[in-house]
Amino acid sequence: MSSAQFLQVFFMRPIIFFVDDEPLVLKSLDRVFRKEPYEVTLFQSPQSALAKMKIREADVVVSDQRMPEMPGSEFLARVKALRPDTVRLMLTGQTDLDAAVAAINQGNVFRFISKPWDDRELRLAVHEAVRHRELILENRRLLDLTRQQNATLRDLNRNLERKVRERTRLIGENERALKAALERLKRTIHGIVGAMALTVETRDPYTAGHQERVGRLARSVAQRMGLSEDRVEGIGLAGSLHDLGKIYVPAEILNRPGRLTDLEFELIKTHPQVGYDILKRIEFPWPIAGIVHQHHERLDGSGYPLGLKGHDILLEARIVAVADVVEAIASHRPYRPALGVEMAVEELRRNRGVRFDPDVVDACLEVVQEPGFAF
Ligand SMILES: [Fe+2]
Repeated sequence: MSSAQFLQVFFMRPIIFFVDDEPLVLKSLDRVFRKEPYEVTLFQSPQSALAKMKIREADVVVSDQRMPEMPGSEFLARVKALRPDTVRLMLTGQTDLDAAVAAINQGNVFRFISKPWDDRELRLAVHEAVRHRELILENRRLLDLTRQQNATLRDLNRNLERKVRERTRLIGENERALKAALERLKRTIHGIVGAMALTVETRDPYTAGHQERVGRLARSVAQRMGLSEDRVEGIGLAGSLHDLGKIYVPAEILNRPGRLTDLEFELIKTHPQVGYDILKRIEFPWPIAGIVHQHHERLDGSGYPLGLKGHDILLEARIVAVADVVEAIASHRPYRPALGVEMAVEELRRNRGVRFDPDVVDACLEVVQEPGFAF
């Protein structure tokens, strides 16, 4: 609603135009409405009323039907075209009833009052017309408000959609960058682990490839046990450098065929601790140092260096331990030829649930007894 309309509705008196060619009728209309809270203007000619309406909008127009200049029905149709929100009433005698009904049906007239009128009824009709006009204006105001709010909402929505698209794009970019960085980091870790494994193996040609094979078997066992891809990867890496601590053992001892003295064996037994001490400094995304530390621990507490038991030993270490034993038995050693997978299977069965985790043993047996299995 414009401020002019607001003033008109709430502070100014409603404007009523009466149009009738007979001065006596106009005079009595004026008398009926003199004390009403309206601003009343009387017109003897419909043309002059239309001319006035071009410059000033009336709230209600009451028109006679039978006038020499033009019939009231035509006049009110023109009012409607000029000022659609002005409420239109028709005063009509019994003979013009058909014209009044037609005007109502065409939507040109709010209602008609038959002549001769009853003053009270006429006042009531005009009052209702004024009320109707207020509703029209209020409705218009609400419609405008809704339209405005809808436009604002549309703008907000468009903005929001743009922001969401932009944010989604940024998140996608960050995610790709993060993934690429993670891949690079993983390649670096694999490179470092590979270099470390090589360090041991260049000094110890007999067990060359032992770590790598243990890593592969440990991975397969972990997969068979249904561990997550990430955990499987950590187990594979730990397996492939589990004997890193052997760089502390003189090469002659590692490579010498024949029995070792107790002292030599004690020296070899330090390798899990040495490996742990080297690796604990590196922040791997897996417990690599812990796995290396515990790969000679046994379920019954008979292992070394800590003598841990059961589930105090990392599951990853229990897996690497089994893979290590199987590979060691099945492959060639400095002091004996390869004993084969069958012998390894026997060892696992004998110590299932004693020295080795039964679930790990079961998974490992499935892996090594699969047709086509080879280290
Ligand atoms: Fe070892």
